[in-house]
This record gives sequence, C-alpha cells and structure tokens, in this order.
Amino acid sequence: MAIRVVRENGDEILRKKSRIVEKVDDKIIELIEDMLDTMHKYNGVGLAAPQVGVLKRVVVIDLYDGNEPLKLVNPIIVKTKGKQEVEEGCLSFPNQYAKMIRPEEVIAEALNEKGEKIKIKAKGLLAQALCHEIEHLDGILFVDNMIPGTLEYVEPQKNN
Ligand code: NI
Repeated sequence: MAIRVVRENGDEILRKKSRIVEKVDDKIIELIEDMLDTMHKYNGVGLAAPQVGVLKRVVVIDLYDGNEPLKLVNPIIVKTKGKQEVEEGCLSFPNQYAKMIRPEEVIAEALNEKGEKIKIKAKGLLAQALCHEIEHLDGILFVDNMIPGTLEYVEPQKNN
C-alpha cells in the first residue's frame, strides 16, 4: 500500500487512452490498493489509473456513505437515463470546480478485483462519479464538457 503522485492538469498522460486490463493479477490488485490510499489521502470520491500515471482501465470510487469503495476494472457505461446539473471537481484540478450536465442514472459493467463481471445501477452522485472516472480512461477531462464560464477556483481550507 502506498500513496502515488497525482498527475495534474497539463500532464499529457491525462490525455491518453488507457489500455484494457487482460488479467486482474497481483499487479492490478496492488494498483487498486494504492489508488484507494491515494484517493482517500486527498479526500477524493473517485480516481482513475491515468491520474497516477498508469494507462490501464482501472477506477476506484468511494462516496464515504458507508458502502465499500468500488474497485472497477475495464468499466463501461452501458445505459444512461435522464439529466442532472451537477457541480464537479477532479483531483487533477486542485480546488477547481465547474457546473455540468450528467445523466441522472447510469448502468455500468466492469470486472471487480476478483476478476468477476459485475453490473452497477447508479443514480445521483454515483452516476456522476462513474461517468467522470470512466471518461478519464479515454483522456477526457471534466472541463471538456463543463457549462462554459462556470469554472471556479475555491480557496482551500487550512487544516491547522
Ligand atoms: Ni477526475
């Protein structure tokens, strides 16, 4: 378990397409564990592997709602429904937020950390997080689809 460096906007790796994971092996498990540690350190609700410099289709999500974090390998969105206007941020854009339109509900499919096929029915924040993280795997960043002119810098809170 280790904290990895989070790549920030301007790093060209964030614009690359990630590769399909052929096998959920020990190396992928280690990547997932490190991504969870890294996401939790920065209080993120989601993190995609390219954000830690690894071009593999791996995503973690934790809404801090008492449910186990999602650990997703090769995730895809198979269905979307409705619309919601949301505020969105990204660990690769520290302290920046924008408004955007996301589907209200999504169905996603992926492999879990055991290599088993799973289906996730999500709405609200989880639907938003799934869309955001899966887009990272294709080099798409939230600012690409934000409502123009809504990007804001929010002063970080000091922890002392
Ligand atoms: Ni992000």
